Amino acid sequence: MEYNQSEFLCETIVPQNELIVSRTDLNGNITYANETFASISGYTIEALIGKPHNCVRHPDMPKAIFKELWDSLRTKGRWSGFVKNIRKDFGYYWVYAEVSGVYRDEQLVEYKSIRTPISFEDKVYYQTKYDAMKNKEGELVRKISYEPYNS
Ligand SMILES: Cc1cc2nc3c(=O)[nH]c(=O)nc-3n(C[C@H](O)[C@H](O)[C@H](O)COP(=O)(O)O)c2cc1C
Repeated sequence: MEYNQSEFLCETIVPQNELIVSRTDLNGNITYANETFASISGYTIEALIGKPHNCVRHPDMPKAIFKELWDSLRTKGRWSGFVKNIRKDFGYYWVYAEVSGVYRDEQLVEYKSIRTPISFEDKVYYQTKYDAMKNKEGELVRKISYEPYNS
């Protein structure tokens, strides 16, 4: 199989020894972001706090994945999966994300997510899989439509 290398030129590689960490309120608005999240996404920590987490949603991600994320958080209290995120400068970065609840006095108060780097083979596998899913959802694949995600 041959890959078009130019598709990978704007990628930010997540370092192996760092974790991207964030927390959100129950509606998905960011309440905490670590330094690594800020530097990888291209925002300052201050700019991230209070923003909906979909500020890093990449247009290549199928809707069904985020439906699965929220359904799974509600029913099982956790979700994990492979996510392509968009940077403020429209570059992108791939992660394996684990999302789960934050409890205080046994009460669900927030959600947290910890993300780690993935292999090149996984990036190719999930890009191909998500392209097919978007195609099935009737959406344009590799659509250039960034404004709604960063305004
Ligand atoms: C703790 C937590 C972390 C999340 N992290 C991301 C993320 O890194 N990238 C992303 O696109 N969506 C993330 N989401 C999901 C977003 O809240 C949102 O559902 C998704 O971006 C789809 O956007 P939409 O709901 O506006 O369609 C996260 C949600 C939670 C609760």
